[in-house]
Amino acid sequence: TNTDLERAQTLITSIPDYPQPGVNFRDISPLIADGPALRAVTEALIAPFEGQFDIVGGLEARGFLFAGTIAAMTGVGILPIRKAGKLPRPAAAVSYSLEYGTATIEGPDVLKKGERVLLVDDILATGGTLSAAQALVRELGAEVVGSAVVLELKDLRGRSLTGDVHTVFAD
Ligand code: PRP
Ligand code: HPA
Repeated sequence: TNTDLERAQTLITSIPDYPQPGVNFRDISPLIADGPALRAVTEALIAPFEGQFDIVGGLEARGFLFAGTIAAMTGVGILPIRKAGKLPRPAAAVSYSLEYGTATIEGPDVLKKGERVLLVDDILATGGTLSAAQALVRELGAEVVGSAVVLELKDLRGRSLTGDVHTVFAD
């Protein structure tokens, strides 16, 4: 319900100076610990895309949680998008920039050509992770029908890398 969704936002906790001084870390743990809040956020994530996706792609690690709830509520399957080195036979890999250095994500060979993927993650920060996931899905031969996150940190301008993203909350 709408009151559950409003309450969900208040359950996202800000932790100053984590993981380093000057960073205000948003912790979604209290939100996902609350059943009605988790359900309301899941419904809000999928609302614009209902009936438009064949599979949901979740970004390791916290994106997996919402991919799981979306899959259970809609009946689609899950594409787990993993940090490099975890998959036995990655079908594609994409590297992206972090504040210091680079990271790589990989995906398994499970997508059919033209399959419609909804990408989901907990937080849009610089957009590096999500934009790499968009490229990865295309490299796997499928189509990104949308990207959805629980919380967008607007100051970081992640959309400059990702294009349009459906966001449940922003600050
Ligand atoms: C966090 C978050 C997003 C990403 C957002 O994950 O869950 O996936 O960073 O940052 P960006 O927009 O600047 O790329 P993290 O890499 O910390 O991994 P984790 O979920 O495994 O902790
Ligand atoms: N919280 C969780 N994950 C993140 C954050 C944050 O504030 N910034 C970048 N990834």
